[in-house]
Amino acid sequence: MKIIITEDYEELSAKAAEIMLAVVKNNPYAVLGLATGTTPLGLYGKMIEDFKANGTSYKNMTCVNLDEYVGLDKNHTQSYAYFMRKNLFDWLDINPEHTHIENGVAADAEEECRRYDSLLKKHRQDIQLLGLGSNGHIAFNEPGTAFGLGTHLVKLAPSTVRDNARLFDSEKDVPLSAFTVGPANIMNAKKILILASGAKKAEAVYGAVRGTVTESLPASILQRHGDCTLIADRQAAALL
Ligand code: F6R
Repeated sequence: MKIIITEDYEELSAKAAEIMLAVVKNNPYAVLGLATGTTPLGLYGKMIEDFKANGTSYKNMTCVNLDEYVGLDKNHTQSYAYFMRKNLFDWLDINPEHTHIENGVAADAEEECRRYDSLLKKHRQDIQLLGLGSNGHIAFNEPGTAFGLGTHLVKLAPSTVRDNARLFDSEKDVPLSAFTVGPANIMNAKKILILASGAKKAEAVYGAVRGTVTESLPASILQRHGDCTLIADRQAAALL
């Protein structure tokens, strides 16, 4: 795993943008695997700035997202589908039909997981962006998730519900389950970029990079990927 340590969040976002934009500018048909959460927001801001300044076109690109809350439809303001539109897609020239995410209100959860697995097979990620949970999760693969899993339904860990409560009016509004791509879908990406910012992520960063590869710390699987870069700011990298 390649490790880049930055002074602060601003520099982390700039370095992440260099890597993401290199993929984007190199291939107008690129498939971008994207993440929600607060960590990628600086990077998304830089992609938008680049689009405004240089007109880099996304019209032939495909985006596939990691996860979606169960029970929230794509127009719900707390859904990840909505988050991606407001924070990235609405600012670019990407075709909305080329942006994909699990359907949080799918009637048949099993069928939805299989649909998403086939979609990812068809659109293999040229780059997969990840954030890191403070418990070591990637996407919503919580500790204990089998490395071999594809898209599946997950019950969120109490610590994840607590971490995500800041984005809701109250903790009781946070959905308790989600659809998520599995470790196997993530590992299938050609390139992986994982970002971690802040002291709360320090233990997870240490485990992901220096710990044993174990299902108890899902991000540790990334040590087995041939082209994975972790960018951490000084606080997140404090234990390395
Ligand atoms: C988001 C996702 C999660 C987040 C992680 C970190 O699509 O799958 O794994 O990346 O929870 O979240 P933030 O960036 O908010 O600290």
